[in-house]
Amino acid sequence: MLITGGNGQLAREMTEVLQTEHLVRSLDSSQLDVTNKGQVWNELISWNPEVIIHAAAYTQVDLAESNPQQAFEVNALGTRYIAEIGEMLGAKFVYISTDYVFDGSKASYYEEHDSPLPINTYGWSKRLGEVEALQSCSRSFVIRTSWLFGIHGRNFVQKILDLATRQRELSIVHDQIGSPTHTLDLARAIAFLMHTERYGIYHFASLGHCSWYELAEKALHLKKSTTTCLPCMSNEYPTVAARPKNTPLSSIKLQQLGFGPIPHWEIALQAYLERMEQASRLPQT
Ligand SMILES: NC(=O)c1ccc[n+]([C@@H]2O[C@H](COP(=O)([O-])OP(=O)(O)OC[C@H]3O[C@@H](n4cnc5c(N)ncnc54)[C@H](OP(=O)(O)O)[C@@H]3O)[C@@H](O)[C@H]2O)c1
Repeated sequence: MLITGGNGQLAREMTEVLQTEHLVRSLDSSQLDVTNKGQVWNELISWNPEVIIHAAAYTQVDLAESNPQQAFEVNALGTRYIAEIGEMLGAKFVYISTDYVFDGSKASYYEEHDSPLPINTYGWSKRLGEVEALQSCSRSFVIRTSWLFGIHGRNFVQKILDLATRQRELSIVHDQIGSPTHTLDLARAIAFLMHTERYGIYHFASLGHCSWYELAEKALHLKKSTTTCLPCMSNEYPTVAARPKNTPLSSIKLQQLGFGPIPHWEIALQAYLERMEQASRLPQT
């Protein structure tokens, strides 16, 4: 199995989950730049993987607004290069996508048949990546996920906990709603799906939904932090890129395929914090 974007938060989790049972080759951006067609060709031909987990992505949502070319090159064009060679090799191809392909105007959970309509450059580049994946490789899985946190990378929860060590009070956005997801649960869902031949689009996120404020407050509570969390509105903290207001994802299609149980986001958060605790107790090398 070959994993792209090997230094990323999800790629590292995927590598750990898969290598207990499979031969896994994870390539970081210095070993495989997905926008370099020649390099993509050489690496994929030499490794000849049965499954490609394409976790490399341009993920800087705000920077993408001033850097659209790079965002589209990595997320769309790079995806096409990998998917085309995956098709040629007869490999299964897993493309990770995002809740940001939706405009956030739906009042309930997004399902796979809902129409994407991104409202920022990152979202458009990821949507185009979905199209490239599905058009270029007949064995493509497109897995949309949201609000990731994991032990291998910087994420919102970790930023909040870091801030709480320095600040007594934090104002956090309460009018953006989504489904926080532990990378470990996502990695297990991907591992399940890639053993099937049920190609197409899937959503995977923890059960339930919350605002960024509710997520921050829960994390601080579980860590017994004395820092206070205050709700605020998005327009009080304008960002360069617009954010969709309501993007909880329904994972019902995956559940109907037999995957589960999927934890509620509060349980997933607790599991993540416990893993962080354990990791911090390990001797540093
Ligand atoms: N994080 C979230 O909350 C979230 C939510 C929904 C969906 N997703 C999707 O989930 C996937 C994994 O996200 P993540 O959180 O693991 O992201 P991440 O930690 O930012 O990892 C992305 C990796 O892609 C690599 N990369 C960037 N450009 C590349 C290129 N040209 N060639 C090869 N590798 C390149 C980066 O390499 P460097 O280390 O060298 O920069 C980085 O290691 C992405 O597809 C993302 O869109 C993420």
